[in-house]
Amino acid sequence: MIEFLEVAVGIAREAGAILREGFAHPKKITYKGEVDLVTESDRRSEELVVARLKRHFPDHGIVAEEGSGAAARTKYCWHVDPLDGTTNFAHGYPCFAVSIGLVEDGKPIVGVVFNPVADEMFTAVRGKGAFLNDKRIHVSRVEKLAQSLVATGFPTHLRKKSSNMEYYWQFTLRTHGVRRDGSASLDLCAVACGRFEAYWEFGLSSWDTAAGVLLVEEAGGKVTDLAGGPYPLGGPSLISSNGLIHAELQEVAFGIADRVAKDE
Ligand code: IPD
Ligand code: CA
Ligand code: CA
Repeated sequence: MIEFLEVAVGIAREAGAILREGFAHPKKITYKGEVDLVTESDRRSEELVVARLKRHFPDHGIVAEEGSGAAARTKYCWHVDPLDGTTNFAHGYPCFAVSIGLVEDGKPIVGVVFNPVADEMFTAVRGKGAFLNDKRIHVSRVEKLAQSLVATGFPTHLRKKSSNMEYYWQFTLRTHGVRRDGSASLDLCAVACGRFEAYWEFGLSSWDTAAGVLLVEEAGGKVTDLAGGPYPLGGPSLISSNGLIHAELQEVAFGIADRVAKDE
């Protein structure tokens, strides 16, 4: 497993260098959807990550956001977001990452998230803890939602029919605040290292979460779906937390889901 991690870390650094380089220059933006941006750097980063993974692990499957992967029914499959936080990147807001997760039979076993601007390398191997730049990290010890800083996000494809504004509003009233930082993988890492007590979102994809979910779990936190069941990668809802506020978080979320359902 350590061999997988070391390879993924090396690849994430190389891809991060591509992103840092691209960040310093004018960006060529194209649109995948109404507000779903993609840049030259997304593609260049993905090309590199996929080529390297194929070279090191020719028998593994690869699912990558921009479509250059090689999904297959294999025991091991890499889930790659070559640039998580494209909108931030395109606007010059320095909050984005390369996210690489290795999944075995549906479970993340290796996770690497690299923020090349902050030079922060988040890593985890199942059963071996979570690290930031090689130092062990843990979720926060805050026990009350009312003393928590939490985060969420809004996937571009759901923006017109998402009820998440209601969650955003309700959690704003019940916490120190809700951040919307624009990079799901970094949001999960922020929970893992105790910057946020919780992060939730609807409609994420496996490449957004494969690495980050493992980071949270290995840092001592909890990840479930909205109903408290296991979060399947790419499932419709994800709630992650330091574990201590999870029940409270879920209770509030249930109440909102109930009201939203009655209004519909
Ligand atoms: C997006 C970011 C954002 C989240 C969206 C994702 P992208 O990924 O992670 O924070 O709210 O759901 O799609 O498009 O920048 O890779
Ligand atoms: Ca993403
Ligand atoms: Ca992306």
